[in-house]
Parts: sequence; C-alpha cells; structure tokens
Amino acid sequence: MRVFDTHCHLDDGQFSEDREEAYRRMLEAQVERCVCVGSDIASSRRCLDFAKEHEGVFAAAGVHPHEAKDASPDYLDILAELLRRPQEVALGEIGLDYYYDLSPRDVQKRVMAEQVRLAVRLNKPVIFHIRDAHGDMVDFFRAQKELPAGIIHCFSGSPETAREYVKMGFYISFAGPLTFKKAPHLQQAAKEVPLDRLLVETDSPYLAPEPKRGRRNEPANVVYTLKKLAELREMPEEEMAQITWNNACAIYGIQ
Ligand code: NI
Repeated sequence: MRVFDTHCHLDDGQFSEDREEAYRRMLEAQVERCVCVGSDIASSRRCLDFAKEHEGVFAAAGVHPHEAKDASPDYLDILAELLRRPQEVALGEIGLDYYYDLSPRDVQKRVMAEQVRLAVRLNKPVIFHIRDAHGDMVDFFRAQKELPAGIIHCFSGSPETAREYVKMGFYISFAGPLTFKKAPHLQQAAKEVPLDRLLVETDSPYLAPEPKRGRRNEPANVVYTLKKLAELREMPEEEMAQITWNNACAIYGIQ
C-alpha cells in the first residue's frame, strides 16, 4: 500500500523541533508522497525548500485568504516565478474564509480571482480553501470563462455542494473531520463523490483525525482518514489507497 497526503503544512512552526522525524514517520506509515502547501509567500518558499530536499515531497505556492490583506504589490510575479520550479505541483492554497474573516471579503475575493487567473495562464491546478463561503465560491466559478483544474481541500460542505463542485470538474479532498463522530453530512458526501474525484489529506498540523483528535496532526495520520473513507465506500483500504493515489498523481501532474 502507498498513500498520498495531498495537503499538509510541514513548513509550519509546530514542526520546528521534529520536522525530519515527522517526515520519517510519514514514510514508515507508507505515506510515500505529500504536498506541502503554502499560505503566503514566505511559507511557499519554505515548502519549496523542503520539497527540494525530501523525496516524495512536493510543493504548492499561493496566498491564503487569511493573508490576502498582506499580499505585496508584486506577489503575483513572485508566485509565477516560484511555480516554474519542478517541485511545484499546484497554486494554493487560495480561496474564501468567511468563518474567520481575517481579511476583508472584497480583498479575499480580489486576491483569489487574481491567483485563479494566474493558474489558468500557467496551466496549474489550484488548491481551494473554502470555509462558510460556498455560495460566493460557486457564484465566482460560474462567472468564469475558464476554470483551472483544482481541488476543494478539506471539504466541509453538504453532499449537494460536493456534487456542484464535481460538476465543475474539481476533486474533493477529505481531511480528519471525516473521522469525527458527529459528521453525518460530510460522511454522506464522501459516499457520493465519484471514485475518480476522491482525495485524502491531513491539513497537518491542524485537524488530527480520530484517534489522534486534539493532538498535533502530521502526514502519517492520513491513513486514518483513508481507512474511514474505505469503510464508508465499503472497499478494502489498499484499493482506496491506490484510487486516491492515482487521483492525486493525476491532478498534480506527477508520474
Ligand atoms: Ni491548509
């Protein structure tokens, strides 16, 4: 079995004491690949550096809605430059977060739209972070002449919302909350997403799955989310690992 964690933040300060050990534990857990996802320019650079030095680690570069208000005037040029590196498999994470509202909503929308246009121009897939903003997001997608390929990361919506995104060609990635007891809608969504659109991720250091809930998360733990997904789809874990592995390699353009 080999497993692909499609979204983690190994560059995060919470790994400053044991980043190499977390990477080693990831490989021991048969998680052979992961994408280290940026949330601003500085973290995107850290992700790229880590990916350069670690087999099986890839990078994504982008400005998260939380950081949108601090985007420098030249941030798009810097992203375009970063995304030329061979380790860079996606633009992200970007999107809308109306739960925390850490940047004004009009700024979130502008910075997201600018990056989507860049992704289309560079022909890169996009990793979308959407929290309490599915309505505006769907409206935005519908208004675009051209959509990039992409992933709805740490999906948190209803089965209907998942269907909507799948119709637009996006992949749906499930994180730790899929394993939580009180997640009937999310679990229902995971039962309905077409097999060729399913992904798993940790979003570590956040959102540790059961039975690690409440602790710092790390890429090795993606196996718990995978296990839950296999259970929901009534499928052997190995088969679900292979399906989500193939999907991840397809969307990220990795051989
Ligand atoms: Ni994330």
